[in-house]
Amino acid sequence: MKIQDYCKFLLILFLFGCSSKIAEPVKPNIIPKPNSQEVIPEIFTLSNATSIQFDSEISQVASYFQSYVKTIANIDINTENDGNTIKFVIDKSIQNEEGYHLTIDENVITITSKGPKGAFYAVQSLIQLLPISTDANEIQIQGIRIEDSPRFVYRGMHLDVARHFFSIDFIKRYLDLMALLKMNTFHWHLTEDQGWRIEIKKYPKLQEIAAFRDETLIGHYSDQPHQFDGKRYGGYYTQEQIKEIITYAAERQITVIPEIEMPGHSQAAIAAYPNLGCTGDSIKVATKWGIFEDIYCPTESTFEFLKDVIDEVVELFPGKYIHIGGDEAPKIRWKNCNHCQNLIKKEGLKDEHELQSYFITRMEKYINSKGKQIIGWDEILEGGLAPNATVMSWRGTSGAVEAAREHHNVILTPGSHCYFDHYQSDHENEPLAIGGFLPLEKVYSFEPIPKELTEEESTYVLGAQGNLWTEYITTAEKAEYMAFPRAVALSEVVWSKRNGKQYSEFVSRLEHFNKRLDAMNVNYANHLYEVKGILQTTNSGLQYDLKTTTSKTIKFGLDNSDFNTTYKKPIPISQSTIIKAAVFDSGDQQLGNTFMQTINVHKGIRANISLNVPPHKSYNAGGKEALINGISGNNKRYGDSEWLGFSGNDVKITIEFDQPNKVNSIATRFHNGNGQWIYAPKEIQVQFDDEEAIFSAKTNPSELLVPVHLDDFGDKTVQKIQISIPNYGKIPEGKQGAGNLAWTFIDEIVIK
Ligand code: ACM
Ligand code: ZN
Repeated sequence: MKIQDYCKFLLILFLFGCSSKIAEPVKPNIIPKPNSQEVIPEIFTLSNATSIQFDSEISQVASYFQSYVKTIANIDINTENDGNTIKFVIDKSIQNEEGYHLTIDENVITITSKGPKGAFYAVQSLIQLLPISTDANEIQIQGIRIEDSPRFVYRGMHLDVARHFFSIDFIKRYLDLMALLKMNTFHWHLTEDQGWRIEIKKYPKLQEIAAFRDETLIGHYSDQPHQFDGKRYGGYYTQEQIKEIITYAAERQITVIPEIEMPGHSQAAIAAYPNLGCTGDSIKVATKWGIFEDIYCPTESTFEFLKDVIDEVVELFPGKYIHIGGDEAPKIRWKNCNHCQNLIKKEGLKDEHELQSYFITRMEKYINSKGKQIIGWDEILEGGLAPNATVMSWRGTSGAVEAAREHHNVILTPGSHCYFDHYQSDHENEPLAIGGFLPLEKVYSFEPIPKELTEEESTYVLGAQGNLWTEYITTAEKAEYMAFPRAVALSEVVWSKRNGKQYSEFVSRLEHFNKRLDAMNVNYANHLYEVKGILQTTNSGLQYDLKTTTSKTIKFGLDNSDFNTTYKKPIPISQSTIIKAAVFDSGDQQLGNTFMQTINVHKGIRANISLNVPPHKSYNAGGKEALINGISGNNKRYGDSEWLGFSGNDVKITIEFDQPNKVNSIATRFHNGNGQWIYAPKEIQVQFDDEEAIFSAKTNPSELLVPVHLDDFGDKTVQKIQISIPNYGKIPEGKQGAGNLAWTFIDEIVIK
């Protein structure tokens, strides 16, 4: 044997000796969904022979991918290998710097982009075509051609680190998850009444005093009386840690926007430096949630303080925006302050709203002088918008409409679709949340461009953001539970094309995506396997329809029996019934929570109902029929589709039967979550047909749920019932929302 042949022989022996293990191609289920993707019948095999080629501009993205591959598969791709190739190509003619082309052929993966941003997003798509982790030394990757770019330039997630404090490690994890979803902006809510979380070297008391509170409210704000845990709580990020986060975010193409709240939500700073407030009184860092009356007094020394703070902030944060808050600043201190009143006169301002506008405009001018732009919550519209401000619309979308019409940029974060601190399931076992109801499907259905805007006006919509306020989010695990998977749905709202979205198709991709989250130990909420029920009225009577968003089987049982029946068609309802149902996999394993629904059949069901005023559009999910559909609202929460909420109205409800009917009693209940501005009425009145007699019942609102019951009508024959529910009136001084008209929340009206 010649020496060369001998070497060949040894090589063959060696190759046979290392058995190669192959990971099969992962089916494309990319989230957020790319603009266009075409699977092709080719397979690229990633292995230790694969080389990676890139320009220096892309080197950071390339090394991110190299180290990712090492962590999931112990495969080392590098520039020296001479097998197949992953090639990053820069094409400056690509319009969108975040767009990319990803082509996977048999011998080469080509990633084309204008620069690192697009290349990074191509890598994120490529990652979703790899196994989550594998011990294989060869990974087969499905051939595909993807052309992709985002719909919106602003794709954000927010985190409140003031109500509860989150570690640097958690922030990095949050950024990792955002990167996976191609989110590009992290809104870091750093200052609040309950804590100041950014080191400002010139003001050491912000670290010593403002960063800590004496104790924290236990349970929900609506639970009375308030109880506290007696434990000092707090912390802050050093400027070094903040730089570390900014660098980590930049490596993931994420810009960090700091929020420094002014003039409201500033009680912690005033606790540290009492002369920042109107009274000069010594106050404490807040220990409970809500809106606080002590806000910055617009004195020259306050402006000096805020400018000094901004000086340090702009040195740290390289992005173009500084968020200055601007929300929820009660004007009571300003009304009673000589300095504030004199300033209003001196500047020729109309009122305290214009004083707030003066405040924000002055700070904007300073921030602009540093080469930065401001963002503020939509209250900054009140009293006149600062000239260059971007508006973050949270109280619905009207702020966005108004600002876009004034040719200001806007970011949509309406409570109705973007507040991930709200409940996501109406299941009783959900962990405590602030309130509301924002299921995944509703997030997915969000359209960031308000329909009132013209095409030209809609160009001012930069994008949208999910907000994570943390009054009730005490741990990293709970933050993940609340943010995911709703952030996943939002990523598709802000990245993917508007047309062709289908929730069930998204859910089938999410089922795969969840395995990725599992591998990262993300404590996401999984409500995909919950059953939804709808009571339907047909010509032949009532029936109850059960639904799942997945293609899996539902089984149910009636009146406390087991899951003994596979659901095929709606269940006829002729008497009061309890329905129990759940989703099962093909192995007959129950997947999600057990769904329980009590249907209380009464005389009002199938009657005609009308209201003098519509419910508020955020609390109207079940429509007016929800009041007489036999189904009561959730015992703990008012945000489901059974409670109807009215903002400040006197409500008159008319219920009419097709035929005269015997009525003996009428009962309902009201929510009384005073912390959320919700008050039970003081009494209700009932009138039958066109009779003059009025029956009334006073309420006894000592609990969260306030029942009222009118009975002994003695089987009176009536056709029309009118129920008057006068609004509670103005919220008393000292309570949340003082001075505003109360909300009224009404549950099922049971007629027997
Ligand atoms: C906010 O939720 N107060 C902006
Ligand atoms: Zn003042």
